[in-house]
Amino acid sequence: MTARLIKNGTIVTAADTYAADVLIKGGIIAKIGKELDSEADEIIDASGMYVFPGGVDPHTHLEMPFGGTVTADDFVTGTQAAAFGGTTTIVDFCLTTKGKPLKSAIEDWHNKAGGKAVIDYGFHLMIGEINDEVLAELPSVVKEEGITSLKVFMAYKNVFQADDGTLFRTMLAAKELGAMVMVHAENGDVIEFLIHKALEEGNTAPIYHALTRPSIIEGEATGRAAKLAALAGARLYVVHVTCAEAVQQIAEARNQGVDVWGETCPQYLVLDQSYLEKPDFEGAKYVWSPPLREAAHQEVLWHALKSGQLQTLGSDHCSFNFDGQKDLGIGDFSKIPNGGPTIEDRFSLFFSEGVTKGRISLNEFVDIVSTRSAKLFGLFPRKGTIAVGSDADIVIFDPHAERTLSVDTHHMNVDYNPFEGMQVTGLPISVLSRGEFVIQDQQFVGSLGAGRYLKRTPYKRVDAAPPTGVSEADGKHKVKQ
Ligand code: URP
Ligand code: ZN
Ligand code: ZN
Repeated sequence: MTARLIKNGTIVTAADTYAADVLIKGGIIAKIGKELDSEADEIIDASGMYVFPGGVDPHTHLEMPFGGTVTADDFVTGTQAAAFGGTTTIVDFCLTTKGKPLKSAIEDWHNKAGGKAVIDYGFHLMIGEINDEVLAELPSVVKEEGITSLKVFMAYKNVFQADDGTLFRTMLAAKELGAMVMVHAENGDVIEFLIHKALEEGNTAPIYHALTRPSIIEGEATGRAAKLAALAGARLYVVHVTCAEAVQQIAEARNQGVDVWGETCPQYLVLDQSYLEKPDFEGAKYVWSPPLREAAHQEVLWHALKSGQLQTLGSDHCSFNFDGQKDLGIGDFSKIPNGGPTIEDRFSLFFSEGVTKGRISLNEFVDIVSTRSAKLFGLFPRKGTIAVGSDADIVIFDPHAERTLSVDTHHMNVDYNPFEGMQVTGLPISVLSRGEFVIQDQQFVGSLGAGRYLKRTPYKRVDAAPPTGVSEADGKHKVKQ
C-alpha cells in the first residue's frame, strides 16, 4: 500500500486547528508532525487547504423502498456523491418487515451495499414490532452484526409506525445491550387524521403536506419519546429535528439529565415552508417529513447546534426524481414520496452557511459534521478525527473556492437539486478513504465495493445516578460527550 504524506495543510479536528503534515501508512494515520517526507512514497501538497476528517453522515436511505417506489440513489451513486461532497462514512437505515426475521433484512441491506459502496458504511435497524422472536434476535444484532442503533418510527401510520408500547420495549431492550434508540418523532395518528381531513376538503397541493404536520406535534412526539427514554433509562437520538418545539423538548430533557441527543439536516437550516408553494407541482421537490418549517425555526436550529442542544447533522438523503416519482402525488399530496437528495451537499453547505457566515467555528463544524456522529454511533476514534491510529479518512478542502449548487453539476442520481442556485464557499478537492483516493482533484478515482461494512461498538452504560456522561453544573445536570 502506498505511504502518503499530506503536507503543508491546516489540520482541523473537533478540538484543534494547527499546521502539521499527516503520514498515512496501511490506510491508517501513522504520524502527525513535520519532516516526515522520507517515509512517504507519495506527497500530496495541501497548501492553503484545510485537512478535515472525512464527514460522517449518520442518516441516509439508499435503495430504499418507500411510498410505492424506490429511492433514486443506490449504494453506488449515493456513496459516490457522498464522497464528492466530503463524506467518507455513512450509516444507512435498514428496513425490517413485520413477521420476518431481523437477520433477513440485514442480509438484504448487505446485498444492496456489498460490492457497490465506495466509502465505508454501517447500518441502523428499524424496529417495527417487539415480540419473543425480535427480542431473541436483538443481542446478536448488536453484538455480532455491530448494529448498535435501533430506529422506531412514531409516524407513517400503516407503513412504518410503531406504537408507544413498542417504542418503550425497544428502549428497555436497547438499554440492556448498549444500543441507542432513534426516533422519527411526529405524532402519526394525528397526522393521519389531518391528512384525511385536508383531502376531504379538496386540499391536495404539496403545501398541505406541511400544513397537516404542524411543528407542535413534532414537539409533542419528541417530548413523549424523551420521557419514555427517561423512564426506561435508555439512550435516545431524535433524527431530523426541524423546529423550536422539538429543540425545547430535547433541551429540557438534557437539562434533567436524560440521555437524549438530536440531529438536524441541512434542508431545515436553509429552506423553509414557502418552497412547498412553488408552482407547477414543484413544491413536491421539497416534501420531507417532518416538513420544512417557517423560516423563524432556522435560527433556533443554528443556535441549538452552536449551543450543543443538538449535536449532529444528518443528510436524511432519500432521493426521488421529480419526473416519475415525486409526481405520483399529483392530485394527492399524501402520495408524494417523502425525502430529498442531500448527501452530496451536506458538508459544503454546512461549511458555507455555518463557518463562512460566522455562525459556528471551524472546530464546531468538524464536531457536528463528523466527530459527534462517530462518537454517538460507536465509530470513534476509528472515524471522525485526525489522530494517529485512526482510519485515514481525510478531506482536503479549499475554503475559498466558490461554486453554485446545481443539478447540472451534482453527482446524485436524481433530476433536481433542492439547493439549486445556492452559492457556497468551500469545496472538497480530494477525499481519501482509509488512505486511498476516492476523489482526487475533484475527479472520482475510487473503486466500486472498496467501502467496508462497519461493525459498531455498543455504548457503555453507567447505571449509577446521575445518568451517562452527566456532570453537575450550576445546580443542573448537563449531558457531556
Ligand atoms: O422525508 C423523509 N424524511 N424521508 C426519509 C424517511 C424518513 O422519515 O427519514
Ligand atoms: Zn424520518
Ligand atoms: Zn430519514
